Amino acid sequence: MAAQTTQDFNARLFDLRLERSRDDLFGMVERLYGHRPDYTRFTEELIAALRAAWDARPEHLKWRDMQRDLEPDWFQRPGMNGYVFYIDRFCGTLDKVPEKLDYLEELGITYLHFMPCLKPRPGDNDGGYSVMDYREINPDLGTMADLEAVTRACHDRNISVCIDLVLNHTAKEHEWARKARAGDGRYRDYYFMFPDDMVPKAYESTLVDIFPESAPGNFTFYEDMDRWVWTTFNEHQWDLNWSNPQVFLEMVRVMLFLANRGIDVLRLDAPAFLWKRMGTRCQSEPEVHVLLHALRAASRIAAPAVIHLEEAIVGPGEMIPYLGRGEHSGKEGNLAYHNSLMVQFWSALAARDTALMSHVLGKHFPPVLSNATYATYLRCHDDIGWAVTDADAGAVGISGAGHRAFLSDFYDGTFPGSFARGAPFQVNAQTGDKRISGTCASLAGLEQALNHGNAHEVDTAIDRILMGHALIASWGGIPLLYMGDEIAALNDYSYRDQPEQARDSRWLHRPRMDWAGVAGLGAAPDSPAARVHAGIRRILARRAAVPGFHGKVATEVLDTGRKGLFAFARHAATGPIICVFNFTEDWSGLPASWFAGHGASKCHDLLSDTQVKSRDGGVALPPYARAWMI
Ligand code: GLC
Repeated sequence: MAAQTTQDFNARLFDLRLERSRDDLFGMVERLYGHRPDYTRFTEELIAALRAAWDARPEHLKWRDMQRDLEPDWFQRPGMNGYVFYIDRFCGTLDKVPEKLDYLEELGITYLHFMPCLKPRPGDNDGGYSVMDYREINPDLGTMADLEAVTRACHDRNISVCIDLVLNHTAKEHEWARKARAGDGRYRDYYFMFPDDMVPKAYESTLVDIFPESAPGNFTFYEDMDRWVWTTFNEHQWDLNWSNPQVFLEMVRVMLFLANRGIDVLRLDAPAFLWKRMGTRCQSEPEVHVLLHALRAASRIAAPAVIHLEEAIVGPGEMIPYLGRGEHSGKEGNLAYHNSLMVQFWSALAARDTALMSHVLGKHFPPVLSNATYATYLRCHDDIGWAVTDADAGAVGISGAGHRAFLSDFYDGTFPGSFARGAPFQVNAQTGDKRISGTCASLAGLEQALNHGNAHEVDTAIDRILMGHALIASWGGIPLLYMGDEIAALNDYSYRDQPEQARDSRWLHRPRMDWAGVAGLGAAPDSPAARVHAGIRRILARRAAVPGFHGKVATEVLDTGRKGLFAFARHAATGPIICVFNFTEDWSGLPASWFAGHGASKCHDLLSDTQVKSRDGGVALPPYARAWMI
């Protein structure tokens, strides 16, 4: 009898959840697939897939669903602090992750992103983003059972877990691709295959090259099939054809399978590319947002504890829709990378000028987001592309091309007087585009300072690093620390000797975690690693203690009238918090009246938790100062 009741309860709960999101799901998929003769069957299969996933969902995750229904802002809270790592480079294998949780917890971490851990193709696999089986873990890292055990261990400590889901392509070794290659018509429709190069050439005329050096062009010819295949990224990554409803269905099943392993955040990889339209760049087409809205609804029905992080590394104007605009408001990505905040941080740091930063962040980003927030970061596993538009540069009186070239030269260290030590990534000879690799510490000047043996330069580099972290901890959103950045890891040049990595300078900033260094932090509190570690730990702890840093609180860029200073207000209900950052190695300051005018009259800095007014009533801002004033 009791079992019967539980079953009824579960079934009724599913029906309620389906009703709640019915329009979001079917309103969207109908637009994409409604014209197809098999549409009705597709919708039946879709509902069956959702119901099957819900039925299979473990009880403890259904409780998590309930908890998150009651606390839907869980991911917007100031206590959320993220950490991103490659499992092998961080601790070897999945089953070792729990041993590192004390370390992460002490740092203040409540969210972990395990970099690609699903089974990749053998050989070069684009750092794991060339997946051949979405239902298996990379055998070098462990098993699905390990993943489930690790997520439970994380949940026990109130840590949420994020993994990657690559939607745009599969490895050419994936079962679907192998069947397609063998001539199975059903699976050929999962990909884009062309009998000759006429259509590919027509598309190519408006496409951009993502990896112009290592994988030029967007199509690959396979002699055995006598077919051209769409391969936006690398040859071994075959783009999926999302105009085929079967692809949608397959991916919903995969998504919910992973959700049922205990995953809290699905990082949807490279979603901008999901929809192709002749005559366009085939990026961020309107259908992409329709698709992402539908996928979000599917999760919300069958695994409501799960949220989506959308990895759209695009220009400022193009990015916000990934967090849901217009009809998709509150219904698309819950999180998206704040690529512009990252780019503008490095840009202002090199230029010692915040005009472009203030313009871009003030103009393109709304003060509040509905049911969404940013993933803020300074560095990640990828390169930095200078996503600065000509129009934005022009608005502050500089040349877009000139500024982008300056930033590239500055960060690869060739610009005279540069403090940075990075490396170029995928230089595009045609467009002059030059992206940049390098760790946070090396780009911020620590590597050069240590090479020079110059203590003052070391201090300055540490201040740059800490200012950046104070920025991403206060803007709004979950700050994501990239592994090793908290101990000021420097560039790792060893990739140059690895044949599979040598052509991809992103390995420069993917060093192994230096656990010996971590063990030595206490014994050498004055080392750069220990100072950065202590500084970041403090920043995260202070952030967690400030309710006004909740993701729902509006962010407004302020004019300081000083070109080296960047400032914004977080408009908390208890009064504004004025966050100020000095992007130069010179002293600066603002009158106390400026702060008071913006509602911060106490001149109390929440970050250092001290009073900071000077004798003459001004607030002095030392080189690379960061302050959260009330
Ligand atoms: C994303 C990943 C990147 C990868 C690409 C292709 O941008 O972050 O590392 O190369 O997708 O999957």
